[in-house]
Amino acid sequence: MTPVRGAEDGWEPVARTIGSPALPGGVADTLTDHGRLARGGGAARWEPLGMSVTPALDLRGIDKSYGSVKVLHDVAFCAHPGEVTALVGDNGAGKTTLVKCIGGIHPPDRGEYRFEGRPVRVGSPRDAARLGIEIVHQDLALCENLDIVQNLFLGRERRRGLALDEAAMEEMARSTLSGLAVRTMGSVRQRIATLSGGQRQTVAIARAVLWDSKVVVLDEPAAALGVAQTQQVLEIVRRLADRGLAVVLISHNMNDVFAVSDRIAALYLGRMVAQVRTADVTHRQIVELITSGVSGELGLRR
Ligand SMILES: Nc1ncnc2c1ncn2[C@@H]1O[C@H](COP(=O)(O)OP(=O)(O)O)[C@@H](O)[C@H]1O
Ligand SMILES: [Mg+2]
Repeated sequence: MTPVRGAEDGWEPVARTIGSPALPGGVADTLTDHGRLARGGGAARWEPLGMSVTPALDLRGIDKSYGSVKVLHDVAFCAHPGEVTALVGDNGAGKTTLVKCIGGIHPPDRGEYRFEGRPVRVGSPRDAARLGIEIVHQDLALCENLDIVQNLFLGRERRRGLALDEAAMEEMARSTLSGLAVRTMGSVRQRIATLSGGQRQTVAIARAVLWDSKVVVLDEPAAALGVAQTQQVLEIVRRLADRGLAVVLISHNMNDVFAVSDRIAALYLGRMVAQVRTADVTHRQIVELITSGVSGELGLRR
């Protein structure tokens, strides 16, 4: 294992806190996997998460090369049910590569992959989907010329006898979208080409949560969105975690990361340099981890 402080957070029933800010009554010292400190609002408050300590995703020792280029080095990564885990890192740090390992698109060359505590083999997107792991890719992979319902069920259409069960699919599309509290979607028979960037992102997220998913990974969902649409997508992200899903959010935007995440995992040149609770770190520490791999006690040992 790379000697990284903080990467073991979440691997044990009681997590160690790292780099805790000064909080009244030493509350930060008592943080466990059963709760988190509420941010903002003055005094520190305890909020139970009410979730099990077993991570939904638990990857360790992950190596991944493309040809002769080694992209991921001994990477550890956890994501917990009911939480948003932000995956951060500079361009080229390996975020998308790690997501492709998680989703079985490019399986790791080496390493352990546990799902809900059990060792599993995720060698294809189908294996991932069977476990309830869904990826919303950076490019969304929606078909412009097809409508919302067709996109949601692409390759997994509902049938009644030999015919497609259009009514059932429309109903599922409507209820899934309204469950995400999408105000301005209109008809589920609109073609993707007619939708805004935020609406497309919402359709891609709906496609990921349509299947009783347990883990949803979003690769830069707000990268191309304006302020209001970003806000809407972040609300959806938070709501998915509040429903009990383990949500992994890749983002470059520190404001977004600090607004919605419970934990932050920082990649630096293909190495996981820290996994910390969001409440325990500052913007500045995370920016330092992203740009240099080290911030005080956190990150790579020199
Ligand atoms: N399919 C590929 N073939 C070869 N190199 C790749 C491939 N995908 C990514 N890389 C390289 O892997 C590194 C990490 O890329 P990526 O995971 O996309 O980073 P990030 O998402 O953090 O920006 C980069 O140096 C990139 O050029
Ligand atoms: Mg990327």
